[in-house]
Amino acid sequence: MTSADLSIDSLIGELTTLGRISEAEPPVVTRVVFGEADRRARAYVKGLCADAGLTVTEDAIGNTFARWVGTDPHLGPIGTGSHIDAIPNAGLYDGCVGVLGGLEAIRTLQKLGFRPRRSIELVIFTAEEPTRFGIGCLGSRMMAGALGAEAARTLRDNEGRGLEELRQAAGFTGPLESIPLSAGRFAGFIELHIEQGPELERKGIDVGLVTHIAAPASVRILMEGEGGHAGATLMPGRRDALAAAAELILALENGARSTGAIDTVATVGVCEVFPGAVNSIPSRVRLETDIRDIEAARRDGVIAALHGACDEVQKRRGVKISWELVNADPPATCDPAILAALEASAKAAGRSYQMMVSRAYHDSLFMARVAPVAMLFIPCRGGISHRPDEYAAPEWIGAGVHVLARTLAHLAS
Ligand code: GLV
Ligand code: MN
Ligand code: MN
Repeated sequence: MTSADLSIDSLIGELTTLGRISEAEPPVVTRVVFGEADRRARAYVKGLCADAGLTVTEDAIGNTFARWVGTDPHLGPIGTGSHIDAIPNAGLYDGCVGVLGGLEAIRTLQKLGFRPRRSIELVIFTAEEPTRFGIGCLGSRMMAGALGAEAARTLRDNEGRGLEELRQAAGFTGPLESIPLSAGRFAGFIELHIEQGPELERKGIDVGLVTHIAAPASVRILMEGEGGHAGATLMPGRRDALAAAAELILALENGARSTGAIDTVATVGVCEVFPGAVNSIPSRVRLETDIRDIEAARRDGVIAALHGACDEVQKRRGVKISWELVNADPPATCDPAILAALEASAKAAGRSYQMMVSRAYHDSLFMARVAPVAMLFIPCRGGISHRPDEYAAPEWIGAGVHVLARTLAHLAS
């Protein structure tokens, strides 16, 4: 197989078409799970899978499986794939490169007359992004049994709509209990993804072979103070919920910086203020925080320090602070045998490569609990991601798909 065997132009065309299926004006991509754009995007991708002769099935939360049946269908398949939901104000490539690139890898192998012994299965995970339900990797988390049906039923979006109602409205009605994968369901899984960081592009390296995925955590903090007139209420004795939140935001930033490790990162990406009027003292604030590290213990230290800051600020300011640990997931280690297969494929394809860690989380974090997993990164311009100007050049995508296709062929033989 050479890169000339890949139909990169059609793949870029499909990525572009998928990107236009958005809640926002293109080129901005926003596709929140179970929203109208997410549903149209699912239909588009399922249509492409059907055109490629794949057998498409869906589970009770909309995780989608498109199978190229192997000559020995009793063997566990080799999976590949990623997600097509997109955070607000996103770009074209996050997740979608792994889905449509995985499909292109399959189509290329079909075109070359390859017949897999193991089935090769493209997986499109539901809600990798935490936008709607506040927790990342919802679909793969449930597939791995890390989030049970009962806990999932309690999830609600910001408008108070429950997961149960929303998934059923999107056409997914089966029992949530049926989602976890049985042992051996996948013999291996590889996720192709943009790096979302600057390293590969800066070094001019074609692909990154991911050895570890960093440990993500999220904490939701609610502050209740006392509202009132911004002019008539004097400063002494105020219980301003937003001023308390400001202290916590800085405490978290300071906590992440003070580990001394470049791998510790912390972000407050959501700050909702009630009532949100310029002449009214904020009485309620909701913060959503994202805290990560490649070492779970160091990340947990930052979480503990934030908890301590909550206690201190609560006492000093008289603002009631409540705390919800949404998730604190362990890191994942990729499988040496799949990494060795990726490395051999990169060499055979004449592509430069390096081993690296993933600082972003991915569905592979959870797939690693139920199957041998590795990830394959390609560069993205300037390391930019989760922004509309996210970009991966066609030749970078081609290199990733080339290495992926060779590896799938090897592992499925
Ligand atoms: C995935 O989107 C992440 O936030 O790492
Ligand atoms: Mn993302
Ligand atoms: Mn992603």
